[in-house]
Amino acid sequence: MEHDNRVKVWDSFVRIFHWSLVTAFVVAYVTEEDVLSVHTLAGYIVFGLIILRLIWGFIGTPHARFTDFTYSPSSIRTFLTDTLYLRAKRYLGHNPAGGAMIFLLLASLLMTLFSGIAVYGAENNGPLAALLGGSGEFIKEALEEAHEFFANFTLLLVFIHIGGVVVESLIHRENLPASMVHGYKRVEEEDQV
Ligand code: HEM
Repeated sequence: MEHDNRVKVWDSFVRIFHWSLVTAFVVAYVTEEDVLSVHTLAGYIVFGLIILRLIWGFIGTPHARFTDFTYSPSSIRTFLTDTLYLRAKRYLGHNPAGGAMIFLLLASLLMTLFSGIAVYGAENNGPLAALLGGSGEFIKEALEEAHEFFANFTLLLVFIHIGGVVVESLIHRENLPASMVHGYKRVEEEDQV
């Protein structure tokens, strides 16, 4: 029976976190500075989500923990090479490349957030207003450049992330985005649940 062959991999926190992050990131990206309050609010929501995810990475369910998807550089290389030959091993939790991508995404999102809060501070707003308010044009522009760079770098990572999800879904004939919605994945004999 289909139901008996499935196991819950992504807990509800991870799933709500993921789709809230996607929504807030897209809103923040498309609003840029045009609608400043919406952009800032979306940014703060991303910030809150990332903080919660960092905590969940230590205390969450088994596949949500950082230790579950921290792999050595050589196993990431092997996994990527195997993917090129369409023979990548299937993982119940995040695979080595997916795990590395999560750390990259979280780091790049944090850099985007810190630089964004710094720009906001240089404009005399937000928690860094006291520190950065009254900065000269040069500093303000440098911070804006940094913020834009990290936002675009995050977007590049997102495209690679989505590409990886599509490729692994095809190789293993399973719908990974759907698993991120309902939380279940099919169990195969070699899986350690
Ligand atoms: C429509 C677009 C997207 C789809 C279909 C998608 C799909 C997925 C899937 C299937 C996973 C689980 C991967 C696995 O099976 O190992 C995942 C994980 C993840 N994705 Fe996405 N993703 C999308 C957009 C994004 C965006 C825009 C971000 C960040 C801005 C993002 C950040 C993450 C993170 C951080 C995880 C790790 C989840 C966790 O363990 O908490 N994703 N995504």
